[in-house]
Amino acid sequence: MFKLTKWALVTGLSVFTCLANAQNWESCGQWANWDVNGYTIYNNLWGGGAGNQCIWANDEGDWGVTADHPNTGGIKSYPNVDFDVDYTVSSMPNITSSFNVSRPGSGSYNTAYDIWYNNYAYEIMLWVNWNGQMGPISYNYGCSGGYPSTACPVETDIQVGGHTWNLFEGTNGSAIVYSFLRTSHTNSGTVNITQISKWLADNGYFSSNTKLHEIQLGFEISQSAGGLDFRMNSYDVTVGGNSSSSSSSSSSSSSSSSSSSSSSSSGNASSASIQENQTGFCSVDGSVDNNNGGFTGSGFANTDNANGNSVEWQVNAPSSGNYTLTWRYANGAGSNRSAKLLVDDTTAVSNVGFPSTGSWSSWSNSSIDTYLEAGSHRIRLEATQSSGLGNIDYLEIAGDKPAAASCNGSSSSSSSSSSSSSSSSSSSSSSSSSSSSSSSSSSSSSGGGSCAGVNTYPDWTAKDWSGGDYNHANAGDKMQHQGSLYQANWYTNTEPGTDYSWTKLGNCSS
Ligand code: GCU
Ligand code: CA
Ligand code: CA
Repeated sequence: MFKLTKWALVTGLSVFTCLANAQNWESCGQWANWDVNGYTIYNNLWGGGAGNQCIWANDEGDWGVTADHPNTGGIKSYPNVDFDVDYTVSSMPNITSSFNVSRPGSGSYNTAYDIWYNNYAYEIMLWVNWNGQMGPISYNYGCSGGYPSTACPVETDIQVGGHTWNLFEGTNGSAIVYSFLRTSHTNSGTVNITQISKWLADNGYFSSNTKLHEIQLGFEISQSAGGLDFRMNSYDVTVGGNSSSSSSSSSSSSSSSSSSSSSSSSGNASSASIQENQTGFCSVDGSVDNNNGGFTGSGFANTDNANGNSVEWQVNAPSSGNYTLTWRYANGAGSNRSAKLLVDDTTAVSNVGFPSTGSWSSWSNSSIDTYLEAGSHRIRLEATQSSGLGNIDYLEIAGDKPAAASCNGSSSSSSSSSSSSSSSSSSSSSSSSSSSSSSSSSSSSSGGGSCAGVNTYPDWTAKDWSGGDYNHANAGDKMQHQGSLYQANWYTNTEPGTDYSWTKLGNCSS
């Protein structure tokens, strides 16, 4: 049999193991998976240009693959063991995971946790070791310093969850990806997923209402020509001090949560946070940028620097009462960027402070309380001095179950949005989504969005650097291509959907 022959050539040992102890499960299927003890083990050949890969397993802590993928670029597969949970960060019990792997000394791959939140809106990767031509997804490249590839970290030497990491931030086109790369390689250890989740919330990378639903550990394999062996020698996820490999937990799924703005409740308190270009984010007198690091979501709202410039949101208050509005912001200028809050065009708070944070990549919160009648409201934050606002990462509203609302919703009309020129960023709601997936490490989105009035690739929205032809898109610009709506993460001239310079907002809804 061909596969046994190949295994015999590559690693005689695993064949003997194989023959001596029959495996509980074996498969060479692209999407083959097997449930055991509350975990699911996936073969998961999701990448283009993949070769052959076969998986065997006895249980969640005793499995392996032999992978024979060509030595070309791109990830071919992510064989992994998956465990589902359902906890918001703020109410997460202690979740730890222990692993012990054997891996080849050649090839290009990593051994990494893939941890998913908010229906695949956030992907946290924990790289515990890697080899060959591998690098994390990043918004910024061109850094030297011994990191894999030239990806630039947003923070270095972070000690959290039992290890020391460098942190990278980027997007895979549908999820915000935070990659923690261990500062030295290890084949075994224990990671504390709760500590890492809380650290991300405490440092503003996502809201404490973010919901963890899936924990995977596996091997992202790019190059393994000739056949290489990857093996899990032991593995478990422990929730709240009890080993999970027997009881309950389940995934329950259906955590609706609208995706477009993260929201959730716990007890009476409830909050919703609204990122740029999600439902509830209505406009910015300027642009959505991502050139200063440390933001969450896909960037931040940057008003042009003039008095009266604003950012607007739409929120729904289910009952009349006090709500707390919190803006995460950066102000790298030396002085306060004061602003006023208008609710439905009436000044509600005349002086909201945004003191200097020291740099444009250092972020803080500014909060005020305001009374809202039950109903949908336009929230306008307007600069009251000539420098415009600080850069705004997101608005969070807390109180009696507030939610992001449609900017075009009910009453009046005004419509806005108009044509397609550069900048703008604002945009109408992005509607729901629901990136299915589960097995692949890069989920595909299937959200919706209006493509009306949006330029069709290659009808570019921005000029080249010299101000000549229209042959680029600016950060924040939208373009439609092959029935999908995309937004540029930075100044780019690549085909939408072919690389990380684009975020796919969804399918054109009309
Ligand atoms: C810098 C910074 C911008 C910011 C601007 C400002 O240019 O990079 O993000 O908006 O200063 O002064 O407002
Ligand atoms: Ca500005
Ligand atoms: Ca943001």
